[in-house]
Amino acid sequence: MKQAYTYAGALAASERINWRVEDIIGGDKRLDFTRPFLPESLARVTPLTFLGQAEQRTLNQIRGLGYLYTFGLVEEFILPFVLDHTRGRLAGDDYRVRAFLEFASEEAKHIHLFRRFREEFEAGFGTPCAVIGPPEAIAQAVLAKEPLAVALTILHIEWMTQRHYIDSVQDDQGLDPQFKSLLKHHWMEEAQHAKLDTLMVQALAEGRSAEEIVRLWERDVEAFRRRRAPFLLY
Ligand SMILES: [Fe+2]
Ligand SMILES: [Fe+2]
Repeated sequence: MKQAYTYAGALAASERINWRVEDIIGGDKRLDFTRPFLPESLARVTPLTFLGQAEQRTLNQIRGLGYLYTFGLVEEFILPFVLDHTRGRLAGDDYRVRAFLEFASEEAKHIHLFRRFREEFEAGFGTPCAVIGPPEAIAQAVLAKEPLAVALTILHIEWMTQRHYIDSVQDDQGLDPQFKSLLKHHWMEEAQHAKLDTLMVQALAEGRSAEEIVRLWERDVEAFRRRRAPFLLY
């Protein structure tokens, strides 16, 4: 099958995009708490008519914080997964090694970016917002799965960032400019990640029949069901 994406192409695009966390948040770049952080299609606060306008905006901002935590969390398992994938394939293709190392470095930067935004949120919001976790336990559970399943999950997550920005964010002029900038800069680098994920999925699926892949999937689903069984009794 002819491959639409290449390691050299992803690397070249990645090298052209070059932003720093400090360019997006910190100093005079502050969150504006008079504006929503997420587009309505993601925050979905307006159907909650028992909330006033200001309360809906506050809930929108809390959902923005949820977005920061969710992506911070997934990036924490994407980073080690990409490094492990690369480590086993250091020989043979210099572009592949460099493209994956660039990918990993960008995810480390994104972890930093999302953390910096959370700090800014917590400093400006005024009320602590608790989250479930811990993220390490979730990462550990995900990384224990079959690598092909993890790679497919990561591919879907990176596609999701593309749809979020293109479908809902880029034309929304009411959002807080800093939050919008975060989503834009993330989208710019995730476009390369989605291509590299596709190549990673293909590499992990190579030589496996469709039946074998389905069997792996069923094994993971069964393991999940067994672990959940005690909770289902309630
Ligand atoms: Fe990312
Ligand atoms: Fe990514």
